[in-house]
Amino acid sequence: MIFNWGYKVKYFFTGILFMCCYIITTAQSNLPIYKNIKINIEDRIKDLLSRMTIQEKILQTSQSYVGNNDNPNNINKEEILSNTNPQIGSLIYYSDDAKMRNAIQTKAMNTRLGIPILFGFDVIHGFKNLYPIPLAVGCSWNVNLYEQACMMAAKETYLAGINWTFSPMLDISRDPRWGRVSECYGEDVYTNAVFGVAAVKGYQGNGLSNPYSIAACLKHFVGYGLSEGGRDYTYTEISNQTLWDTYLIPYQQAINAGAITLMAGFNNLNGIPMIANHFLLTDIVKKRWQLPGFIVSDWNGVHQLIEQGNVLNNKEAALKAFKSGVDLDMTDDVYKDNLLPLLNEDKIRITELDSAVYRILKVKFMLGLFDNPYAPENIIDDSSTQLHDKLISEKLASESMVLLKNKNILPIDFKHIHNIAVIGPMSMDSLDLMGSWIGRGKEIDVTSVYTALKRKLNNVINISFAKGADFDGTDTTGFEDAYKAAMTADLCIICLGEKGIWSGENASRSSIELPYIQEQLIKMVSKAKKPIVLVLFNGRPLALKNIEPYADAILESWQPGTMGAFAVADILSGKSNPSGKLDITFPLTSGQIPIYYSMRPKARPSSGNYQDISTQPLYPFGYGLSYSKFAYDSIKLSSSHIKKEEHLIARINVQNISDKDGLETVLWYITDKTASITRPIKELRFFEKKEIKKNNTKTFIFDIDPLRDLSYPDADGNKILEPGEFIIEANGQKASFDLIE
Ligand code: NOJ
Repeated sequence: MIFNWGYKVKYFFTGILFMCCYIITTAQSNLPIYKNIKINIEDRIKDLLSRMTIQEKILQTSQSYVGNNDNPNNINKEEILSNTNPQIGSLIYYSDDAKMRNAIQTKAMNTRLGIPILFGFDVIHGFKNLYPIPLAVGCSWNVNLYEQACMMAAKETYLAGINWTFSPMLDISRDPRWGRVSECYGEDVYTNAVFGVAAVKGYQGNGLSNPYSIAACLKHFVGYGLSEGGRDYTYTEISNQTLWDTYLIPYQQAINAGAITLMAGFNNLNGIPMIANHFLLTDIVKKRWQLPGFIVSDWNGVHQLIEQGNVLNNKEAALKAFKSGVDLDMTDDVYKDNLLPLLNEDKIRITELDSAVYRILKVKFMLGLFDNPYAPENIIDDSSTQLHDKLISEKLASESMVLLKNKNILPIDFKHIHNIAVIGPMSMDSLDLMGSWIGRGKEIDVTSVYTALKRKLNNVINISFAKGADFDGTDTTGFEDAYKAAMTADLCIICLGEKGIWSGENASRSSIELPYIQEQLIKMVSKAKKPIVLVLFNGRPLALKNIEPYADAILESWQPGTMGAFAVADILSGKSNPSGKLDITFPLTSGQIPIYYSMRPKARPSSGNYQDISTQPLYPFGYGLSYSKFAYDSIKLSSSHIKKEEHLIARINVQNISDKDGLETVLWYITDKTASITRPIKELRFFEKKEIKKNNTKTFIFDIDPLRDLSYPDADGNKILEPGEFIIEANGQKASFDLIE
């Protein structure tokens, strides 16, 4: 009986299952093709395009924004809901409210065709939980950790209903006066490429339609980092050779890694504004590199073609930008207002409009927005996820920090140091620890350095505080308190630096020295004759010549994000061992700019220097100290010569000769001694970071593939691989080998 009954149940459920399948299949087959999840994306897009009116297509090429740009917390929901056009292609969403986002999306889904809106936002170094600024991240040389941080940011972003971030920024910058230097991974080509790829992988995960994945956007294509004089939005002059061997490389590699969208920069490049650069946007990015998704203009970039002196009016601007390859128009409504007349006048063909819309819809389909248009609501990350995220951001902050100087003062020796004075404008500051582009990060979630030190060290030492001075200005009334605090302390920790808004967009500075008042403060405190640890928080390299002599130790902490102050406390106390190395040169003075490690060799190597200062920077690219001591062996090569199709293995043993476990990064450089088109003095081609326990040795290996590591592009992007002598270098150790025919 039981046996029979079991069979009946089984048949019953099998029957139900078949019925369900039948209903679903029939229901799916009754759906228009573009709504049928079982059909491939290409056919779905074609079907949708065939149903769209011209006006609907044009709206897909427009992006607007919701929320108050200046005060994102002050969003008037009713106003937003009534004003938002549900047929718009994309919205920049200044909120973390998934419910309101879904309410807007519902309006879109209820339109004639139900095309979902693509919500985008600037998630540059985290969304709520901020990790260090990209310039700091490059100094960590920890690519896997960074990928995890981007994954964490993607999840927070996704849960707020945002599916697309305008990141990573791959504008190599060698001018620290430019505010946006904080958004790149330093001055080097390879470093920007590797971290850019990690960001793409972290954001986009294993597939764009997976929960918690968001689309990446490479920006600001290309050369924006070379803004004249470090001023923002200005002209850029870059030779084709430099474009190909420097500025294009990170973009190309990130597209190879699957980056789905790209933003055209504000800059005018060699006379052709990037928004109107058909060759680079269409011929290179879309055709040669096969960008899978679309190209968006930067904010008002299409309209700005008028300001840049390239076109007369918005209609001409729309025509130029559209024909050049910009598919989506960010915020200026120029496409929305002008594409129709341009189509009517046959200046733009409908097939051209279709291919732009195709690219935009493709990204929406790939993100799964047609099948899953709504963001999950009320999902609160549990405490273990939050803890995990905090650990990642704290670890990344710690590994990004660079110990620039240490006259045996750090880590703090608690046997002899009992009283510490924490002095300076950054000591009690939380907001500026986040830097620029703070997403939805909140000051209240960030602990100041003073508070972190108190929390971590209060039971071992006494900690006093005196602000001393503000970030800038001339008010020295706090100097006396600072001096008094120093007099009663055994050690002074002076926290100086930049406000978050001193870097990022439209935040250039004519000089990169700290403001005079901050320089005066450290000089004044030094009169107390107590050891000084200078802890810096800044979004660009600083010129420290004036104050370096007053500090016994200097820790470059950058703008380290939500958990940054704890990372500082742990490094100062010795709980963590600093392992960052600079991804950008610290000039001696502002007058040395531009100065970077990979300059091309001079005609007279020892002449042509400045008469008034050294030509050497204060801290070069790759510089950084540790509490451990590492001894480098000589480089061993698998051969003294190789052929183009062979590999060469370089090995170096690095010994930790101290009694502290530490992390060491080996930066491998290659010098091409003689080339038809001269090469930089040296170029970073590989790096690796490893833990080396005290008194242990680790072997670092660089597997050299000539085509990848010894070649260089010509001015058209063709790879050149020439026989000759090459030098390989790691931490000053050098070996040479020949590439033979
Ligand atoms: C302008 C900035 O240049 C760009 O980086 C950013 O992504 C957009 N605004 C959107 O906020």
